[in-house]
Amino acid sequence: MKPNYVKIFDTTLRDGEQSPGFSMNTEEKVRLALQLERLGVDVMEAGFPAASPDDFAAVERIAKAITKVEVCGLARAMESDIRTTWDAIKEAAMPRIHTFIATSPVHMEYKLKKSPEQVKAMAIEAVTLAKSLCDRVDFSPEDGGRSDRDFLVEVIGAVIKAGADTINIPDTVGYLTPEEFEDLMRYLIENTPGADTVIWSTHCHDDLGLGVANSLAGVRAGARQIECTINGIGERAGNASLEEVVMALQTRADFYELEHGIDSTEIYRTSQLLEQITGQKVQVNKAIVGKNAFAHESGIHQHGMLANPETYEIMTPESVGVDKTNIVLGKHSGRAALAARLQDMGYQLETEQLNEIFADFKTLADKKKDIADSDLAILVHGELAEENQLWSLEHYELGSGSGKKSFAAVQLKNHETGKLSKAKAEGDGMVDAAYNCIKQICGDHGILTEFKMDAVTSGIDAQAVVNVRLEQESGHVVTGRAGDTDIVKAAILAYLEAINRH
Ligand code: KIV
Ligand code: ZN
Repeated sequence: MKPNYVKIFDTTLRDGEQSPGFSMNTEEKVRLALQLERLGVDVMEAGFPAASPDDFAAVERIAKAITKVEVCGLARAMESDIRTTWDAIKEAAMPRIHTFIATSPVHMEYKLKKSPEQVKAMAIEAVTLAKSLCDRVDFSPEDGGRSDRDFLVEVIGAVIKAGADTINIPDTVGYLTPEEFEDLMRYLIENTPGADTVIWSTHCHDDLGLGVANSLAGVRAGARQIECTINGIGERAGNASLEEVVMALQTRADFYELEHGIDSTEIYRTSQLLEQITGQKVQVNKAIVGKNAFAHESGIHQHGMLANPETYEIMTPESVGVDKTNIVLGKHSGRAALAARLQDMGYQLETEQLNEIFADFKTLADKKKDIADSDLAILVHGELAEENQLWSLEHYELGSGSGKKSFAAVQLKNHETGKLSKAKAEGDGMVDAAYNCIKQICGDHGILTEFKMDAVTSGIDAQAVVNVRLEQESGHVVTGRAGDTDIVKAAILAYLEAINRH
């Protein structure tokens, strides 16, 4: 690796996916993994295989599907985790095991209930085993940011000797300032035996909004890998955002003098795909990928932009793949145009799926003149959600009026039994009435803690997109998302999707 090359290690599918509201099913994870490969990440952390059979299956599928980048699985410093992880990734073209154990006093005493000596021994044993199975091994001292520096030097020196080729320093709770993180990274690189034989990496959480600044500070101290996520998703306030670290390195190449392998024109598409899969929208003013990131509202700014875009734009929208022209399809567009547009949006679909989407596209085009990418994303989402669903909507009727209770009648099909079930209910509005019907048929799947409705494009013929979030007492969260030109139907389909994802 060139000394000025920074590897981008994406952990959207692991650290990102484990945060509430961002869970994905296997198909969705594979779709995102293929887009991450297209984006050009160097390593993707596909999941935590020992966490559950579903996690294992997803990592295994990704390992087989991805050929151009390293596929990594996370494992606690335990024999069973490491063996399970290896089983999940062993068929990858470039497999990698990432093992970790906490090294901070508070984690060792209260979480692990282990002495520093025991932790060091577990770290060495884990890396030795991982290395006996897999050529590429990452080691992370969890909560490195709050660990004793000299203990870190001792543990890291030992795991380098045991075969780790990458040492990742997590600021697990996002506590450090950029100056402190840079200083820590520099201290470790200068004092750890064998430091020059490994790649140093950053993993900075964003609790104080410093995740990106800390990652870049780590790179200034000599780190040559950044662990980050699309849209900055991750535990609590999230991780360093991939698009921000990459565009900082790229836009300020004069300052950092570093290279990366990301195709920045794929950034926006990847961000959108994640948004569409999880239904979690990025804030409008989010750097690089927010709706307003390249919008110029005030007269003074618009005047400057017209005179010379460099007045207010430090990077172009095109450089991150924001297509201002947003090609619109309509009722005369054919199957080939639709297929090309979907491929461009990052979807890799089977012929059968494309046929179904084309049929829905024609129906929508009859109701609505211009079909934008956001409309297409909803169609694809609807089609893919139908695959493997337990419950589907067969029929619904609604009624409402001033001074009257709203009522609904809903008929659902159970795809396991093939049986149709009907329910009638009243409610505080038609959506509530319809949801009461669904609860009668499917049972209660948790409290509705979020109900959001947006129009995907402007105008009366716009599709409404509804996002719902159900939370169970156990803390388990599922989300559902659906769109339709009929807002109540969109609300019903979103609720059903959440139930189907349970
Ligand atoms: O935040 C953290 O410490 C982690 C480790 C598993 C790397 O996610
Ligand atoms: Zn983390």
